[in-house]
Amino acid sequence: MQFPEYRPRRMRKNEAFRKLIRETTLSANDFIYPLFVVPGKDVKNPVASMPGVFQQSADLLVKEVRHLESLGIPAILLFGIPEKKDETASGAFAKDGIVQRTVRRIKEKCPDILVVTDVCLCEYTSHGHCGMIEKGDVDNDSTLEVLAETALSHARAGADMVAPSAMMDGQVGAIREALDESGFESIPVIAYSAKYASSFYGPFREAAESAPQFGNRKSYQMDPANSDEAIREMTLDVSEGADIIMVKPALPYLDIIRRAKEEFDLPVAAYNVSGEFAMIKAAAKMGWIDGELAMMEALTAIKRAGADIIITYFAGEAAELLRKG
Ligand code: PBG
Repeated sequence: MQFPEYRPRRMRKNEAFRKLIRETTLSANDFIYPLFVVPGKDVKNPVASMPGVFQQSADLLVKEVRHLESLGIPAILLFGIPEKKDETASGAFAKDGIVQRTVRRIKEKCPDILVVTDVCLCEYTSHGHCGMIEKGDVDNDSTLEVLAETALSHARAGADMVAPSAMMDGQVGAIREALDESGFESIPVIAYSAKYASSFYGPFREAAESAPQFGNRKSYQMDPANSDEAIREMTLDVSEGADIIMVKPALPYLDIIRRAKEEFDLPVAAYNVSGEFAMIKAAAKMGWIDGELAMMEALTAIKRAGADIIITYFAGEAAELLRKG
C-alpha cells in the first residue's frame, strides 16, 4: 500500500465512515463492577480518592446492584470490610461473614446479576497481608487452605464465581479441588493470574482498608518488569482449572493483556484498577482532560488490547453513556 493510491483519511471523513470501519466497540456486557460492603445499615462512606465509589452497607448496596442490572451490567465483584480483623483472617471464611451475608442478600433480591467474590485475606488480617504470616513473610501453603475455605464459604452463600487474588502459588488448584469436593463443580474460577505489585492499588487500599501494616506485597505479587513470567503464571492457572485468566492492572499492562489473548484459548479479563480510575478522575477535576472521553478511550484501549471482560469502577458511568449513545 502506498500514498497517493491509498489515503487512509478517506475512511475517516465523517462519523458514519468511522463507525463503518470501527474495530472495537464497548458494551455494558463487557463490564464487571467492583463494590465494597461494610457492616451496618444505611451506611454510605465516600472513598475520597475514588469519586463516586462508596463503602456501603448491604441495604444500600442492593439498590446499587439493581441499578447496575438495569444498565445491562452482567456482574459485580464483591469486597468485604469486616467488623474486626485478626491474625488468622477468620472473618474471611466465617459462615456469617460480611461477604457471605451480603451475597445471600444480593442473590435473594437480584437473582440474575452474577455475584463474583474476591477471595483474598488482606481485608481480614490485622497485618493487612494477603496470607498467613510465618517467620516474617507470607506462608504459601498454609494460606492455600484458608483461601480454599474462603472460596467454599462464598460458594455456599450463593456466589456465582470466585476470584482468587492473593497470588499464592497453587491457589487456583486448591480452590478448584475444594469446590469440586463439595459439589460446586459448576462454580467457575476467574483467576487473578498476572497480578502485579503495583502502585496503582493505592486508592483501593483506602476503600478496602487493606494496606499492609509492614513491608509490601513484592514476595507474592509480580514484578512490573516481567512479561514472560506472566505467561508462566497464566499457564499454571490454566492447568489448575481457571475458567477466566486476568491481568491486573490494565492500562500500564496492555502488552500483557495482548499476550494473554494470543497465547491462551480462554476468556481474558483485565482489571482497570483504582489508581487508573483515580488518575482520570483527578485530571478531569482539575480541568486538564475531558473525563468522559478519557474514560471511554481507556476502556476501548483495554478491550482492543484483547480483554474480553473489563473489571472497572467506570462500569456504571460508561454503561450510562453507552445507553445514551
Ligand atoms: C486484594 C486486592 C487488591 C485489589 C484487588 N484485590 C489490592 C492489593 O492487592 O493490594 C486492587 C484493586 C484496585 O486497585 O482497584 N488483594
